[in-house]
Parts: sequence; C-alpha cells; structure tokens
Amino acid sequence: MSDSRALADALVFPYLNHAASMFEEQYASREDVDNGMRFGCGLPAGPLAVLDEIGLETVRDALAARFAESGDPRHRPDPAIERLIAEGRTGKAAGKGFYTYDGDEVVADELTPSQVGQGAARPVKTVGVVGSGTMASGIVEVFAVNGFPVTYVARTGDKVDAVRAQIAKNLARQVDKGRIDQGQADAVLGRLTGATEREALGDVDIVVEAIAEEIGIKNQLFADLDRICKSGAVLATTTSSLSIADLAAQTRRPQDVVGMHFFNPAPVMKLVEVINHATTGQDVLDTVQDLCRSTRKVAVSCADRSGFIVNALLFPYLNDAIRAHEEGAELDAVDGAITEHYGYPMGPFALLDVVGNDVALAIEEELLAEFEHESLTPAPLLRELVGAGKLGRKTGEGFRTY
Ligand code: 3HC
Repeated sequence: MSDSRALADALVFPYLNHAASMFEEQYASREDVDNGMRFGCGLPAGPLAVLDEIGLETVRDALAARFAESGDPRHRPDPAIERLIAEGRTGKAAGKGFYTYDGDEVVADELTPSQVGQGAARPVKTVGVVGSGTMASGIVEVFAVNGFPVTYVARTGDKVDAVRAQIAKNLARQVDKGRIDQGQADAVLGRLTGATEREALGDVDIVVEAIAEEIGIKNQLFADLDRICKSGAVLATTTSSLSIADLAAQTRRPQDVVGMHFFNPAPVMKLVEVINHATTGQDVLDTVQDLCRSTRKVAVSCADRSGFIVNALLFPYLNDAIRAHEEGAELDAVDGAITEHYGYPMGPFALLDVVGNDVALAIEEELLAEFEHESLTPAPLLRELVGAGKLGRKTGEGFRTY
C-alpha cells in the first residue's frame, strides 16, 4: 500500500467507524447519514456506502490493529460492523452490507424508508433571515433565488448593503456564465428587503436565524422573535453548536422552534439538517421539509445533539488531520491523499481554511464536551492558529496563506 493511501485510510477509517455507530444507535437512518456527508460536504459517497464498497472486514481489521496500538475508543471497530460481518453482510462484494445490492445498484430492503406523505405543513409565502455574515447572506440568497420574498435583518445599514452586494455579485457571475439573464437576476434582487430593526419580521411565515454562535445573543434574539413574530410563524435556527431546546425555552412557543442547519457555502451545498428538539411540532418539521424541497435542498433529520450528523463526523476527522500534520505529515500530502484516494472535493486543510479555524475550534470543543473521547481534544496547532488570528481564508491566512 502506498504511503499516501495509508495516510488517507488512517484519517478516513475512524470516520467510517463513527458513521457506523451513528447508524447503530439509531441517531439517524443510514440514508440520512450518507446523504448528510454527500450533500453537506460534497463527498462522492456517504460513509456507510464507502464501508460497503471497501468491505467491512477490511475496515474492521485495519481499525482493530490500530486500536491495539492506540487504545483510542474511536478506533475500536463499532458493534454495527461486527454484527453485520457476523450476519454475512460484509459489503457490496457479498451483495449486502449496510445496504442491499443487485450488482452495483442499491436495492430496497426492510430498512428502506417509505416515502413520507404530505403532512400538515404550514404555508410559507414569505421568509425572514436574521444575520449578515457568510451563512446568513447565503441563506437569504437561497430563498430569494427560489422565489421567496425575503426580509433580512442586519445590525447596521452598511451590513444590510453588504448582504445585497454579495448576492448581486453571485448573481452577476451566473449572468456572465449565461445561466440566468439580467431580468432574472433583477427579480431575485427585487425580492430582498433589508432592515436594521427586528420589528420588520412581524409578518413573515418563517424566520431563519444565522447570527453569532453566542448563547446570550441568541437567547435574546429568540425572546425578541417571540415578541415580534406573528402567531404560527416558524422560528428556525441554523446554529451548529448550541442546544435548540435552550433557544426554544426563550419563547412561549417551543413547538414552533426548529433547527435548520445549512452548510457553507449555503447557495452551493445542497444539505439542510432538520433538527428536532423534544417539543418541535410535527407540522413544523413538515413545514421545514417542504421548504427544503421548494428550495431544492436535501433535508436529513436528526435529534438535538452536539454536531448533529455532519459536524460530528467531519470535525474529528479534521482534527485528526491536524494531529497528523503536527506529527510531520505535509499539508499538501494530506490534502492530496484525501482528494486522490477518496475523491473529496477538498482536503482537510483546504476545508478548514474555508470553514474558519475559529469555527472549527468552537465545534470541536462542543464535541469534546458531548462525547468525552480524549482524542477529540482540539489539536494544539488549531488553538495556536486561532490565538494568532489565523482563521483561514477570511483573514487571509490559516493553514495556508491567501
Ligand atoms: N457562494 C456562492 N457560490 C459559490 C461559492 C460561494 N461562497 N463558492 C463556490 N461557489 C460556486 C461557484 O460559483 C461554482 O458555481 P458555478 O459552477 O455555478 O459557477 C461552484 O460553486 C463550484 O465552485 P468552484 O468551481 O469555484 O470550486 P469547486 O469546484 O472547488 O467547488 C465547493 C467549491 C463547492 C466549495 C467545493 O469545493 C466543496 O464542495 N467543498 C466542500 C465544502 C464543505 O465541505 N462544506 C461543509 C463545511 S462544514 C459546514 O459548513 C458546517 C458548519 O456548521 C461549519
């Protein structure tokens, strides 16, 4: 095996193992685990499909050897893998593994989800967005491009203008490429209403919050939305690290509060994780699922737990990559190994610089607090870069210089 292949496998196998455990503990369906990674991170295949492709025994043996050396529980082959092997479901070559196959094709089996019928979704004609950062601006764009009038609220007039300018820039690129005409671009911009006062959200059917990941600020926002928004409005948060139940508790309508976790860049990544906290109403979940369909997003469902599906799988892998680098692996060698052998759209260091090292550190701290595996401790180099203000592309320097 080449060094490059071994490097890629060393980073990817613990992630595959973790995906198996998510399935085994019924945190999410196998389809949602796989769709999460495909549509949230642009991967060519989800982790459970990859396990089937490589063969469960190969992955189990490699992990077991690694566990014998490291003692890290993340390397111990998950019971799901052992169980499926014992049942003869060793992967695609055997015609069955996590999925069931006919040749190369996945075929329906007893775990295949039935098509969900239309529930009692609430009608959504207008959308509100709170925030003006990268995520907020991308989310405003998603809704406006798909025909929804959007009222967005930023803290200052300059920030209101910056969101519109960013969207105008993205639309101009689409016009240049001949994908839309100027009339369509103008129509999208015509659907935007910027405001600096939250009171502007009084009449919208759903608000998507995408402000700073600070609990005090978000709590205050939810109390405000409760005061301002009309009865029946859905209150969605795109938090990636805070408890949705805590935010819901700031309102007198916890049944209307739901998580809608978008991915960066929101106009491009097709995934939305729909997060159901204990008291979210079924009609609210149906409304959000419908809204995802009408904005051409793929929705996956999961419960209110740190990292949800994608971040919980992604960030430990990114952290492992930083540790490999600390131990001498070159940035280009690691990124190259992952893109070459697994076909990811970008390697871990390129992605960390896109996501932002500060965001990565905050998510890793949350994951460590939730799952308590010592090996989830954020790599010292990540802390160092954040301390030095090297946050990634947004500051011009992160793991690489831009
Ligand atoms: N806004 C709008 N459009 C953008 C964009 C942005 N910020 N960045 C790229 N695009 C568009 C480009 O215009 C291009 O569209 P076009 O073909 O219609 O012109 C398309 O995306 C592809 O872009 P490029 O050809 O420039 O570059 P790539 O082919 O390398 O694709 C990528 C860029 C889509 C970002 C791809 O590299 C990718 O899928 N990367 C993985 C990203 C990822 O994993 N995101 C998840 C991070 S975790 C997260 O968000 C969770 C949070 O809680 C932290």
